[in-house]
Amino acid sequence: MKKIRKPILLSTLLTVGLGVTVGLVSTLLTTTDSHSQTLEATNAVDTVGNIRVPTVDYRKEWVALGTWAVAADEGVLGSKGMHVVYTQEETITAYLETGNFPDGAVLVKELLSTETADMTTGTISRAGEIEGWFVMVKDSTGKFESINRLWGEGWGWAYFGADDNAKTTTTDYESECLGCHVPAEANDWIYTEGYPILR
Ligand code: HEC
Repeated sequence: MKKIRKPILLSTLLTVGLGVTVGLVSTLLTTTDSHSQTLEATNAVDTVGNIRVPTVDYRKEWVALGTWAVAADEGVLGSKGMHVVYTQEETITAYLETGNFPDGAVLVKELLSTETADMTTGTISRAGEIEGWFVMVKDSTGKFESINRLWGEGWGWAYFGADDNAKTTTTDYESECLGCHVPAEANDWIYTEGYPILR
């Protein structure tokens, strides 16, 4: 009996062992996959590093990181604009696990007009129309940095007017973007204090 059982036990062990290994490997692969989204996956970046506003319906498919309300001029109530920032769900998962923005992370900041009105809760500013987009795309490998002036410091940087979400008006991230993001340098150039979901 023992002679028969042994091989069975061994093969069971082997099968279970193999199963666990396959399971582990596939978990690892899935984890890696979800963390290193390819830049192309969002179609925000082409093969030479040109950037566009991703065509995905990010308001529905992605996650809103947070909103910045731009105060109206002195003496005027409410906000004169709002900035709403979106990113992929995978970006948030990876950031919470590692404390870093993963390659392929895309941050879309919408510039919105506002309407301010008296409502039953008080004086309220609500989001109006899109006035433009700021887009940043993470690439820690810096593969476009020597060929494209939209790329540097581990990110691609581009602004788009409301009339064209495919063609940026930005020509040089260093002079047009970077200086204003210096206060956020320690957080990989991102103003993370505005995004409660990352805490
Ligand atoms: C006048 C200063 C200024 C300039 C110029 C500027 N930014 Fe920003 N940016 C900010 C500030 C401040 C925030 C956060 C608060 C806000 O939105 O007002 C921000 C937020 C962002 C965000 C949302 C993620 C984050 O960092 O919080 C993106 C994306 C972004 N900027 C991209 C760009 C790009 C791309 C350029 C250049 C084309 C650029 N910015 C130029 C000041 C600036």
